[in-house]
Amino acid sequence: MKRKQIFISILLLVSLSLSACAGAATPTQAPAAPTAAAEQPTEKPAGGGKLEVFSWWTSGGEAAALEALFTQFKKYNPTAEIINATIAGGGGSNARAVLQTRLAGGDPPDTWQIHPGFELLGQYVASGYVDPITDLYKSEGWDKVMPAGLIEQMTKDGQIYGVLAGVHRGNGLWYNKKVLDAQGITVGATMSVDEFFQIANKLIAADITPLCVGDTGIWASAQLFENTLLGVIGPEKYKGLWDGSVAFDSPEVKSAMETYGKMLDYQNSDHSALSWDQAIKKLMEGTCVFSSMGDWAYGEFVKAQLKDNVDFGWVSHPGSAGSFMIVADGFVMAKNAPDKDNNTLFLKAIGSKEGQEAFNPLKGSIPARTDVDRAKFGVYHNWSMDSFAKDALVPSVVHGSAAPADFQQALNDAVTSFVVDKNVDAFAAALVKAAQDSGFAK
Ligand code: GAL
Repeated sequence: MKRKQIFISILLLVSLSLSACAGAATPTQAPAAPTAAAEQPTEKPAGGGKLEVFSWWTSGGEAAALEALFTQFKKYNPTAEIINATIAGGGGSNARAVLQTRLAGGDPPDTWQIHPGFELLGQYVASGYVDPITDLYKSEGWDKVMPAGLIEQMTKDGQIYGVLAGVHRGNGLWYNKKVLDAQGITVGATMSVDEFFQIANKLIAADITPLCVGDTGIWASAQLFENTLLGVIGPEKYKGLWDGSVAFDSPEVKSAMETYGKMLDYQNSDHSALSWDQAIKKLMEGTCVFSSMGDWAYGEFVKAQLKDNVDFGWVSHPGSAGSFMIVADGFVMAKNAPDKDNNTLFLKAIGSKEGQEAFNPLKGSIPARTDVDRAKFGVYHNWSMDSFAKDALVPSVVHGSAAPADFQQALNDAVTSFVVDKNVDAFAAALVKAAQDSGFAK
């Protein structure tokens, strides 16, 4: 698929009506633990063989959620040997390079983690590393229960190449509620950029670090920028960046860069020594208060058995209420997969209602399926489902969907320089050039 066509797909994604998970009332209880009583697969269990699953899900919450997928798969094949091939490093910062080497060397795992859009279509489909799974969409009825806009992001020439386990909301701002309560600070339903700085200044006055960042993988700081960009310029202009109608050196983008630079002044001094989940741990311990992070952070709170709206809380990243930054996670069928039969069962388990209901409460994402039982999900997930149903849906560049890999890399490089020099003109110029090199600047 040509880049231009992929960009058109991105626009389709954000313009199509994605009515996932809308409708039911929001419960107030904590998330229900996945039940063991989920329906059993109807077909006769297969036996033996291997299944190698490649991912970067190594944090506490990520690993627990991945294990839940394995448990679902074992219902289909209880005796298969699962090879859990993980490479640590949030956002796939290390894993994607290792995977490329394996794929180029003809040594594919059976399946691996993908983001729809450019990452799947540009890096894996275009290179011929994956087989279509369109037939599974028909046999499993996924074509009727998965949002059309997301399927479109995984489709080339009428063939579908991935199945989604869940959909993360990237633009969350998480906080330690007990620390804020002790300071007499209340966070409302939304937060503006100005409100964030007012609260941050109060915390500084009380000798408390406002912002928790862990950017050993620079993507975490790039995500703070991506969220701030969305919050400052709004979803329409944010979308315009990816079709070239908004320039990276426009005044509003530069203003977002200034705001991001200002936010960096409030981060923990050890940020560059920590991973994203270590930063969330600091938040839980109360040595810093806010973290701008996708809702895989929620998986860490679940794993630590903390309580929603008691121990921790959330709000959209400052200024970004009304938008849902999509970071969807899917899995594929490798071409020449060592064990296609087991992988077919694994993909079926992922796309099943039971699989989605077991995985997502632990991972923090919402199910991609539209027919799940909302009562099985807690207050955060219902909040996120509502947001997905009614808010502006925008693609993440940091997590591979909005732009080609070369732009994603150039953004990470530009962020690495910016956190040191805070030079807005240089940052803007680097992104203008990257968009031109990547072929989507007008
Ligand atoms: C994203 C991925 C999430 C989560 C996060 C941090 O790219 O979509 O599932 O794993 O990285 O590692």
